[in-house]
Amino acid sequence: MANFLIEGENRIGGELPIHGAKNAALPILAAALLTRRSVLHNCPDLSDVRAAAHILEHLGCTVEREGDTVIVESDDGVYCDIPDGLMREMRSSVVFLGAILTRCGRARVSFPGGCELGPRPIDIHLASLERMGVNIKEDHGDLDCTIDGKMVGTELNLPFPSVGATENILLAAVLAEGTTVIHNAAREPEIQDLAGFLTAIGAKIHLKNDGTIVVEGVETLLPEVEYRVIPDRIATATYLCAAAATGGELLVTKTEPEYLAAVLPMFEEMGCQVKTGPDLIYLKGPRRLRPVRMVRTMPYPGFPTDAQAPFMALSTLAQGTSVFVENIFESRYKHAAELMRMGARIKVEGRVAVVEGVPALHSAQVRCTDLRGGAALCIAALAAAGVSRVSDIAHIERGYERLEEHLSSLGAKITRE
Ligand code: UD1
Repeated sequence: MANFLIEGENRIGGELPIHGAKNAALPILAAALLTRRSVLHNCPDLSDVRAAAHILEHLGCTVEREGDTVIVESDDGVYCDIPDGLMREMRSSVVFLGAILTRCGRARVSFPGGCELGPRPIDIHLASLERMGVNIKEDHGDLDCTIDGKMVGTELNLPFPSVGATENILLAAVLAEGTTVIHNAAREPEIQDLAGFLTAIGAKIHLKNDGTIVVEGVETLLPEVEYRVIPDRIATATYLCAAAATGGELLVTKTEPEYLAAVLPMFEEMGCQVKTGPDLIYLKGPRRLRPVRMVRTMPYPGFPTDAQAPFMALSTLAQGTSVFVENIFESRYKHAAELMRMGARIKVEGRVAVVEGVPALHSAQVRCTDLRGGAALCIAALAAAGVSRVSDIAHIERGYERLEEHLSSLGAKITRE
């Protein structure tokens, strides 16, 4: 795997347009199976998006990219199986399950498997699909899903507002017989974007403010669609963290401040100046960061778990103690041990991490443990004295488009090795 060499103590500043949201693009690419031709603008060029394209191609679609536009054609016969190798290429491949079932009436996939964030069960996905009339047979890690006739709409109460499960249910419900009601559905902007895409192809979806989603099954969907993917809120937060950690001044454009309503106040609490416009965010980092009293990760509209690691990197440099409580994933502090190699003081106890800020970090050899943890290491390395080597950056490339190019344009000294 490739590495980044980062020479720290250079301010991150300037202007940066944000790419489209990975977590919106992936389910929308799966949803492209439900129409003949999808033209998707603002579709980020990331390894996870390429993995989704490989799955679509394996299923019989053609996928072409022109700049940030991806065109998916799925007019011929579509296969209903995803082999294990492709399922493992991307953890969120399971979101293809609902789309394949709707398109083919059968789906054969393997379990997406555990991952660097701890076990990633799909019991809510499977139980919901079963309630909608899907027969699921499990055999040695493979899932064979079949339907007698059509999937049927029903009332579902999710035990947790799982993003992936909500997406799979939406994809299954749009052409199901009757109405599907999802109580305690996920409300992330990426869910709204998938619903927006499905609505654009003729689905009838009502997103209610209380977290309930009502889907009235329709008979057919439209054959063509042109759609624009929303901006990536986590990439936005990450670049803002890089500016804040280095005392820089950054204007992020083509983004959506509203999606970061739980995050921007944390920057202010840490002493950053933040201003927002309709599609932009300006941040100026202080000379020395203040600690953040408590970051509790929650389902949207709470503080996103994906921004926890970048904020932890920031808090290592604050004047005082910051506390993190990770409520979404069981094992999402692997970056802490790597940050400690750079001089950070962090104590992890189950779901809680206590970070005692230090005046400065020093360079070190650190290894990316996962996508957002890897981004956190880059932020720390940008602020640290000396040259750090960040290894296993393939994790980072799953979610950040041309990170080194963008950071270089903002004043960072970063090279790929
Ligand atoms: C999505 C995002 C990921 C983000 C996460 C939480 C994508 C591609 N990924 O992941 O970046 O960190 O939302 O915002 O959009 N769970 C179960 N059973 C299930 C499903 C989930 O127990 O059937 C648990 C998971 O183990 C986890 C929690 O629910 O602890 C949240 O998972 P979920 O919301 O489903 O996240 P993903 O869709 O996997």
